Amino acid sequence: MSPEEVQDANVAGAVAALRQGGLVILPTETVYGLAADAANPGAVARIYEAKGRPSFNPLIAHVADLAAAERVAALDERARRLAEAFWPGPLTLVAPIRDSGAVCDLARAGLDTVAVRVPGHPLAQAVLRAFGGPVVAPSANRSGRPSPTTHADAVAETGFAAEVALEGGPCAVGLESTVVAVLDGPVRLLRPGGVTRAQIAAQVGPLADAEADAKRSPGRLTLHYAPDAPVRLNAAGAAPGEAFLGFGPACADDGLNLSPAGDLRQAATRLFAYLRAADRRRPTGIAVAPIPDEGLGEAINDRLRRAAGFVG
Ligand code: TXA
Ligand code: MG
Repeated sequence: MSPEEVQDANVAGAVAALRQGGLVILPTETVYGLAADAANPGAVARIYEAKGRPSFNPLIAHVADLAAAERVAALDERARRLAEAFWPGPLTLVAPIRDSGAVCDLARAGLDTVAVRVPGHPLAQAVLRAFGGPVVAPSANRSGRPSPTTHADAVAETGFAAEVALEGGPCAVGLESTVVAVLDGPVRLLRPGGVTRAQIAAQVGPLADAEADAKRSPGRLTLHYAPDAPVRLNAAGAAPGEAFLGFGPACADDGLNLSPAGDLRQAATRLFAYLRAADRRRPTGIAVAPIPDEGLGEAINDRLRRAAGFVG
């Protein structure tokens, strides 16, 4: 997005809506979010309601920079190292809450920790700087559905509940942020995402196992990111009536190949949009080719397993 396009966007309208307790569809580099003033319990309640999200699943507080994050959360040396390496960008840190008024209890689902991230999208940055305080923003899908990676998909999901829906183009990453807990003990991976496990390990050493800790990341429900049609993984091809999401040169380049060249970054960008596109064909199911589990493939396979309804 060019500086002129940021200039032309309705940032002032979005900030006014947030100040009045309204909701805003906010583009980020990962996925589109449904944003509210993190300090306003009434506004936060509207997010849970619009998404149909269980209130035990806490939200991520978005802030403009590391200094703003440190006002909200107690970041230790490891957290600061990760922030300096990956912010602004697709990394969320879970750390002890420092200012429980700035990110209200409802937004944290009553936990004594807070998830905080600095998004890189220029429109998200403009809104956060103009607003001043933390903004909670879950993905703008209704609970359990694929995350929206375009303005049109976000509006189709939760636009009915938003005062302002900012257009920020297609999301560059296409998968949600990586969520890591930096509390007592080793750094733990709670949700794989746009920053890979290896990238994080290069900063703070090997990560503790994510799935052993799944209960501590309450958002990890069984059926999540799911289109309407049932999803079948590691498929060699489509059965009659199924749509097929391919990957790599061995699969047809038919408009639903996540990356004919076998590029995981490209596949990540396309994943949610292609699940939606496959769904629109009203298939009996969606079959998906095997995706390698390395790098961004870990997050892609995590979303696909959840879309297929497997416990992570
Ligand atoms: O990329 C993203 O992170 C997007 C964009 C909009 O920023 N947001 C997003 O939010 O994916 P959401 O609400 O869909 O996912 C937030 C995840 C959930 O799995 C939630 O359980 C976890 O973060 N989470 C939030 N606060 C937490 C906490 N205090 N402890 C553990 N997990 C937490
Ligand atoms: Mg989500």
